Amino acid sequence: MALRIDLSEKMTIVIGASSGIGAAIARRFAASGSHVVLAARREEKLAETKCKIEESGDSASWKKVDVTNYEQVAELVDSTAREHGQIDILINCAGHAVAKPLLQTTVEELDAQLDSNLRGLCYSCHATVPHMIRQGSGHIINIGSICSMNHYPEYATYVAAKFGVLGFSRSLYEEVRHHGIRVNVLCPAAVNTAWADVAGAKLPWPQDERLQPEDLAETALFCVSLPKRVQVENIVLWPTCEPTV
Ligand SMILES: NC(=O)c1ccc[n+]([C@@H]2O[C@H](COP(=O)([O-])OP(=O)(O)OC[C@H]3O[C@@H](n4cnc5c(N)ncnc54)[C@H](OP(=O)(O)O)[C@@H]3O)[C@@H](O)[C@H]2O)c1
Repeated sequence: MALRIDLSEKMTIVIGASSGIGAAIARRFAASGSHVVLAARREEKLAETKCKIEESGDSASWKKVDVTNYEQVAELVDSTAREHGQIDILINCAGHAVAKPLLQTTVEELDAQLDSNLRGLCYSCHATVPHMIRQGSGHIINIGSICSMNHYPEYATYVAAKFGVLGFSRSLYEEVRHHGIRVNVLCPAAVNTAWADVAGAKLPWPQDERLQPEDLAETALFCVSLPKRVQVENIVLWPTCEPTV
């Protein structure tokens, strides 16, 4: 049975909300009553997600943001705080991979993976935490991966970025916990999104046996539903189906 929680007093920013996990989280949080600010680069996809949310009678707005650009991220965060008075929940879903051995990876591909998965997430936390400190509360959910704790050939740069997400998140939590801010990391294995196609990845689970983006949305909602005394460090999600390799 789906979790029922009232987020009607809450303001949520989802970065990487134009597709996949971020779009599913945005829909789920909006359905629980939160106003959701959707951010990513593809405007038509953001508009589509906002439309779906509004068709269900829920509330969302969107802003075009490249998470690797600090000014754009700061403007997203500051304008949200200005217009809505608060930022209760920040969810970082932006990221991509390029599945190639390191020596076949161009420097541009290498930088882009570190930037979208890690640098952008550090940027959004850096811009948002001061608002949460002023409020005396806040919840940050970062999307890591099983690559945050395991090694995979052909993913060295992506693995480095996702290890970074976990290390950054745990360290940040220690810095902000006494301000009532929690930082959680969701670490999924294969999720049925466009990620694998973008990466050129061959995942060892058939498409229909992978996790669904809605599973991540439900898990994110679960984290937010827990009493303030509970800090979930990270949650690892695997498909129950055995991998084929
Ligand atoms: N699918 C999986 O198997 C899997 C497993 C473990 C972890 N993850 C992680 O889950 C997260 C979401 O991926 P997904 O599976 O939902 O794939 P997806 O559908 O390809 O979504 C990726 C999202 O990241 C956004 N993004 C990428 N670069 C960005 C940038 N520079 N600025 C702003 N937004 C950016 C994309 O938006 P725009 O292109 O519109 O900017 C899109 O909304 C990623 O961090 C991924 O590494 C995925």
